[in-house]
Amino acid sequence: MKKIFGIMLLLSFLAACYKDKEELLYPNQFGGGDTSTVITYNGFVKPLVNTRCVACHAGYGDYAGLKVIVDNGKFNDRVIVKKDMPSGGSLDATQIAKLDKWLKAGAPNN
Ligand code: HEC
Repeated sequence: MKKIFGIMLLLSFLAACYKDKEELLYPNQFGGGDTSTVITYNGFVKPLVNTRCVACHAGYGDYAGLKVIVDNGKFNDRVIVKKDMPSGGSLDATQIAKLDKWLKAGAPNN
């Protein structure tokens, strides 16, 4: 009886290890700070623009205002390609990747 209990205990440890490894190998499937989820305007883009751009560009504070530089390509050019905006403090790679993903999805007002 003791032996069976020991084996069951061992199996449960092995199962736990397997799950840990899976999370390390495929982190994007578990939603940890990645770009695999849908990037929304209201959930991500707007709060970021409000804290990082609006002090200098008041006009980008709402969707219609931001859409002007999205549509004329300047948002992509300065933030994703040249990375010189916001001036005086660039965004990190994850933030840029998320913005890029939102742009490529058609910059929806979601
Ligand atoms: C510290 C002030 C400051 C911040 C913060 C800032 N900008 Fe700018 N931005 C400027 C200035 C000044 C210019 C005009 C000079 C130039 O084009 O470099 C400019 C120009 C731009 C342009 C070109 C506009 C055009 O019509 O040609 C875009 C696009 C832009 N910024 C986007 C952004 C975005 C998006 C953010 C936030 C992620 C941001 N900026 C944050 C100061 C800032």
